Amino acid sequence: MKNTLDVVLGLQWGDEGKGKVVDVLTPSYKVVARFQGGPNAGHSLVFDGDSFVLHTVPSGIFRKGTVNVIGNGVVIDPVILMEEISQIEARGVDVSNKLLISKRAHLILPTHRVLDAASESAMGKGKIGSTLKGIGPAYSDKTGRNGLRVGDILQDNFREIYDAHKQRHEQLIHLYPPFELPFNFDEYEQKWFQAVEQLKRFPFIDSEVYVNEALKAGTPILAEGAQGSLLDIDFGTYPYVTSSNTLSAGVCTGLGIAPSRVGKVYGIFKAYCTRVGSGPFPTELFDADGERLRAIGHEYGATTGRPRRCGWLDMVALKYTVMMNGVTDLIMMKADVMDEFDTIKVAVAYKKDGELLESFPYDGGKDVTPVYKEFPGWKTPLSGLRRYEDFPEAFKKYIAYIETETGCRISIVSVGPDRDATVMR
Ligand code: GDP
Ligand code: IMO
Ligand code: MG
Repeated sequence: MKNTLDVVLGLQWGDEGKGKVVDVLTPSYKVVARFQGGPNAGHSLVFDGDSFVLHTVPSGIFRKGTVNVIGNGVVIDPVILMEEISQIEARGVDVSNKLLISKRAHLILPTHRVLDAASESAMGKGKIGSTLKGIGPAYSDKTGRNGLRVGDILQDNFREIYDAHKQRHEQLIHLYPPFELPFNFDEYEQKWFQAVEQLKRFPFIDSEVYVNEALKAGTPILAEGAQGSLLDIDFGTYPYVTSSNTLSAGVCTGLGIAPSRVGKVYGIFKAYCTRVGSGPFPTELFDADGERLRAIGHEYGATTGRPRRCGWLDMVALKYTVMMNGVTDLIMMKADVMDEFDTIKVAVAYKKDGELLESFPYDGGKDVTPVYKEFPGWKTPLSGLRRYEDFPEAFKKYIAYIETETGCRISIVSVGPDRDATVMR
């Protein structure tokens, strides 16, 4: 018996392909659990000629016999969660008997969304580029000991508690300069209360007890991260980050398990880099190669539809995030996007003020010039291949280089969005 749980998380700025990987790995697990983030996430799944984007529901939901847990570390917007659930049910999946929600997960209130928008608007050009889902304000209330939790929904005076929170938020909103509301507040608030009622059909549980009991019984569990390591509140490109710990350490506080319970750590990365929102991005491309990556890779946000910034793979950043996550297995995504490229570049160091930087700097690589190593492109379509042996030599060299630099094996290579376009080594 294993008695440990495995983790899937992103090593870059999010959108690495976590949803696809969790969906692919789920048949080997009985429970899939989200441990942080909220509806800022957009996890895409493609199978049976259909595609689906999940925001709060774990990506194991479409596999038979899997229990999906929304852990205490997640922040939940009931409107977005219920919309997502009805879309999943419209595909014929019965969600009621396979979704459990932690009583300790915090709620995103409609006023959290307003505060998010007000804060972004007040920052002007310096804005974070948040998804405007209320993530920052909801986590701020959590750590400020002012949050509302899923378990509170069952209190008789829930409306009263809600109103007190709303009142406090309204006072805060008045501290910001006037701004344009991104949605109709009254309508959203009404929908919010309806969704809260609908949420009651799912069990609100002490998920830390559930997960620990399951581990004790030897149940295989997969924890699903959201966002990416470079968006981590402590180690990301602060302040251009999200408001939770996206690293493997977050799985302990986000599910209530001990560090000794963490087994494999699957670190997912794209064969290049993307980022949505503001903040440093040392290898960002502003040329035709950047445009090609965006066009071929369909690099548009799954949650907001914003075009993703694109650039070359950054080994300085990747080594940093592999280190902090204790990655045991690397998973490489989307190399097929570069099939036609003559030359592929990887940043191996940065230069700043005449100095060579080989480790990821405190400021996230602001104003650095990357030092690149060049690789010949493989000029072969990868997406039809299903065996490592069949990969072109130039691509195998790219894989081997990354393995040597990170000291970590690439055990899965994804060559297309579909569940089936996956090469296990
Ligand atoms: P997540 O947030 O980490 O789950 O990633 P997203 O779903 O936001 O973004 C990943 C995008 O890449 C989605 O549109 C996926 O369907 C797509 N995708 C995943 N793996 C591959 C791959 O190997 N090749 C290609 N071309 N697309 C992929
Ligand atoms: P998945 O799970 C990519 C980014 C936002 C913004 C910053 C803060 O799909 O990989 P927030 O709404 O959290 O306050 O925004 O973080 N961001 C993501 N970028 N993928 C995500 O999730 C993201 N979630 C947040 O664009 O720059
Ligand atoms: Mg995404």
